[in-house]
Amino acid sequence: MLIKLKIFRFDPGKDEKPYYKTYEVEADSMDRLLDCLNRIRWEQDPTLSYRWSCGHGICGSDGMRINGICGLPCQKLARDYKEEVLIEPLPVFKVIKDLIVDLDPFFEKYNSIKPYLITKAPPPDQERSQSAEQQNFLGKAIRCILCACCTAACPVNQNTETAGYVGPAALVRSFRYLFDSRDEGSEERIALLDRKDGAWGCQTLWKCTEVCPKEIPVTKEIGQIKKRIYETKDPKK
Ligand code: SF4
Ligand code: SF4
Ligand code: FES
Repeated sequence: MLIKLKIFRFDPGKDEKPYYKTYEVEADSMDRLLDCLNRIRWEQDPTLSYRWSCGHGICGSDGMRINGICGLPCQKLARDYKEEVLIEPLPVFKVIKDLIVDLDPFFEKYNSIKPYLITKAPPPDQERSQSAEQQNFLGKAIRCILCACCTAACPVNQNTETAGYVGPAALVRSFRYLFDSRDEGSEERIALLDRKDGAWGCQTLWKCTEVCPKEIPVTKEIGQIKKRIYETKDPKK
């Protein structure tokens, strides 16, 4: 089948402003949109720039906007698109070239929430063990591949006045450690999260949950963080 992709193009080093270019490419029934992009790049236009690595929803590097919705082209079958497909970079972030955006601000926010296990007790002789039940509670959050689709789709992050909001991806990682039975840093984590640009920045608009390619219940996990902050302040609740 023939598929048409209308792709955002912008090279700040040479273009005065962004423009769209439409390409037609032959796709097989099992081809994903990423295969179509690769075919365009390999056979028609080697100047087209985008990130990808694994091709299978694992590395999280090919986040982009597909028909206005943030997602991964490696997880979208071309045959599911009957009309021309609009391909654009993730919103919120500065475009470096074509579909490649500057994710430094995303990772700065992510690093700000201490995305690692905080422990105070001396390390045990072997690993820090955890029961299957405790691990299952975090099981969905652990699936996060840091693709940034949720943060780019979040209306709070899209609003320049509230753009300082730490964003859903960082909050999913906070959830993962705040509720980890082995973590001993909950006091400092709560101090980082109990802020209007922390967990309280979330307005429960659900866009993050809608777009997450790993089906993580992002908004629900942010809600659990808010509940935990509330209970910490008033343990009777
Ligand atoms: S639920 Fe919260 S984090 Fe998710 S999109 Fe809405 S405001 Fe953003
Ligand atoms: S929570 Fe989902 S959408 Fe957000 S970065 Fe992780 S995998 Fe991507
Ligand atoms: S290419 Fe790795 S997640 Fe899509």
